[in-house]
Amino acid sequence: MLVLGIESSCDETGAAVVADDGTVRSDVVQSQVVHSEWGGVVPELASRDHARNVLPVVREALARAEVTLDAIDGIAVTCRPGLVGALLVGVQAAKGMAFGSRKPIVGVDHLMGHLLAVFLRRAGGEARPVPEFPFVALLASGGHTAIYRVDAASTDRVRELGATRDDAAGEAYDKVAKLLGLGYPGGPAIDSLAKEGDADAIDLVAPMAHARSLEFSFSGIKTQVAALVQGRAPLDDAARANVCAAFQRAVTGVLAKKLFAAAEAEGVLHVVLGGGVAANSELRRRVQEGAARRGMAAHVPPLASCTDNGAMIAYAGAVRLSRGERDGWDLAATSATALPRATRKGRGRR
Ligand code: KG4
Ligand code: ZN
Repeated sequence: MLVLGIESSCDETGAAVVADDGTVRSDVVQSQVVHSEWGGVVPELASRDHARNVLPVVREALARAEVTLDAIDGIAVTCRPGLVGALLVGVQAAKGMAFGSRKPIVGVDHLMGHLLAVFLRRAGGEARPVPEFPFVALLASGGHTAIYRVDAASTDRVRELGATRDDAAGEAYDKVAKLLGLGYPGGPAIDSLAKEGDADAIDLVAPMAHARSLEFSFSGIKTQVAALVQGRAPLDDAARANVCAAFQRAVTGVLAKKLFAAAEAEGVLHVVLGGGVAANSELRRRVQEGAARRGMAAHVPPLASCTDNGAMIAYAGAVRLSRGERDGWDLAATSATALPRATRKGRGRR
């Protein structure tokens, strides 16, 4: 079965053709650049850019896979969670194509896409063993940060074990990068600068790092960085690198620590990373080394599968289509995830 996947939930327009065994035939991602001067995603600009790009990106995905829409067995589209105006563009484009070509359509929860991205098989990539169910996954992106127990590839078999009470980890990266004048998105810039810095030179702690709970909080560390830089002369390059190193050590340390605490509490031997922050070099290293020490298997997707892409949506859609699931023309775009939530924002004592 071949599925066309369309992603437009945030600032990446993605389209991909993926087979139901996870083989990626094509994966085209157009990252929007209009947001960089604003230091964050501007929803209305995102919608307009998606509307301009969605059909060319789909055409390119079909061309690279060397197929026409006729050869496609179904269309999968991100319908939640995300910016509603941005999601609407993908959903309407998918409906139009599905209607015109008489193909089935399925809506995909973007977080499900990230959780299953580890099953994608990319051309030229090394053969990786896929995780066994149940596994525990850390999903860390610009909009979400949570740990899940995944018993099967279905939203009703996913349980949230803990999530952030405030900012997502990627959001903290982006805000700290903005404070340091490193542009948007901040993750890759901080990741590379951190390698040149000395994490011991600056005292930064990720709140809730020592709490037994599996919840996170990242707004406090952003405030700590703000206190370091605001109202002072701009930091020199060495000082900026030190802030990046200390910030990255604190954030990736707490993410990895709680992922393993969750896996141990659940008695699960497979841990999975997903979401844009899973592209982070220090997080990937910590999770790989931590798993090896504990006799666990770490499943860390290649970078192209971590950040937003259409292939993960196509694969999650293929799983739904294989079960005979279909959506109707009333498929709607929604800002909230379908995954059950356990952590409420801003809840409780830190
Ligand atoms: O999953 P994603 O592409 O979009 C969302 O669903 O949010 O994640 C984007 C986030 C951004 O906040 C970006 O700064 C972060 O992932 N990110 C990284 C790295 N690459 C991207 N964060 C830390 N280190 C990286 N190397
Ligand atoms: Zn995402």
